[in-house]
Amino acid sequence: MGSHHGRLSIRKDPFGTTPEGDEVDVYTFSNGRVTISMLTWGATIQRVETPDRRGKTKNISLGFDNLPDYAALSPYFGSTIGRYGNRIAKGRFTLDGQNYQIPINNGENALHGGTIGFDKKVWKATVVQTDEIVGVTFGYLSPDGDMGFPGELTTKVTYTLDRDDTLRIDYHATVAGKPTVVNLTNHVYFNLAGEGSGSIDGHVLQLNAPSYTPVDAGLIPTGEIAPVAGTPFDFGKPTAIGKRIRDDHPQLVIGRGYDHNFVLGGDVDDDGLRFAARFWEPEDGRTVTVHTSEPGAQFYSGNFLDGTFQGIGDKSYRQGDAFAFETQHFPDSPNHPNFPSTVLRPGQTYTSTTTYTFGTK
Ligand code: GLA
Repeated sequence: MGSHHGRLSIRKDPFGTTPEGDEVDVYTFSNGRVTISMLTWGATIQRVETPDRRGKTKNISLGFDNLPDYAALSPYFGSTIGRYGNRIAKGRFTLDGQNYQIPINNGENALHGGTIGFDKKVWKATVVQTDEIVGVTFGYLSPDGDMGFPGELTTKVTYTLDRDDTLRIDYHATVAGKPTVVNLTNHVYFNLAGEGSGSIDGHVLQLNAPSYTPVDAGLIPTGEIAPVAGTPFDFGKPTAIGKRIRDDHPQLVIGRGYDHNFVLGGDVDDDGLRFAARFWEPEDGRTVTVHTSEPGAQFYSGNFLDGTFQGIGDKSYRQGDAFAFETQHFPDSPNHPNFPSTVLRPGQTYTSTTTYTFGTK
């Protein structure tokens, strides 16, 4: 799809009030073809509406139409995740000889920043609009000791849509007072045939990842960087997600499907990004292509969705009804010196960029 000249627009509407009395807004921004709604609650992607091959527009992102469901039920639908995406073993790590404990919220481990992560905070929103892009910068100040993490972290995440149907996410953070660890991501769940439309088994995935990080029974990386060649984890050639998801492979048993960090291949381009993945839904033809500055990505095939609640379109979400592709540094990096470092020190700046380009094929 080439560049087009639709009108860039953005509007703000009230979405609800938290039990603490904080007002939550929804920002809806569009380029005339792709329309994205985001909440100040969790800097959350609530809706992503894109046309299919025939021009029929649907919401392809899982979510809810009300704030109480986000607060009570959401498995991170569309959330901005912090301070640490994915798991930290037993919630513990040591930095410069100091021990830190993050609250446990996933088996015996800490997941996505602990019990009250960035996904459950109300962020401050500022509209971003130029001739080329439209979107929102979300800001959140995390105090020293928030969820056990050291240092005061100032976080800004900018979500912008351009005229070529690319949603760009720019993460930025600095720490004051103490060194810390940071690993920010977004947990949008897609079903390219429309949210609530059933299984993503037929979606075709191409993944630029020569290796992945196998996990133990608690989904903590063992530390090994394993080649994907010859395994159901090799998506070098475009392959249906469901083709091998029921194969007899110990890692698929542990994950109940795909729930693994992939180590992305090659170097970043001049723009600081590398091709990470392309997802394609052959019936309606929608594609989403992901580029990132990050060294890894968690490919999660929606294994823990269990049909116990309904989403925005009043349909239950069951196992495998969506995928997430969370660009990131590797899980549990603070406890694996052989993984790329997630340490951020006062005076340094954390930056990370991921783009999702929507199209059809
Ligand atoms: C990540 C994890 C999964 C699951 C989801 C949220 O993708 O790796 O195991 O916890 O978040 O439900």
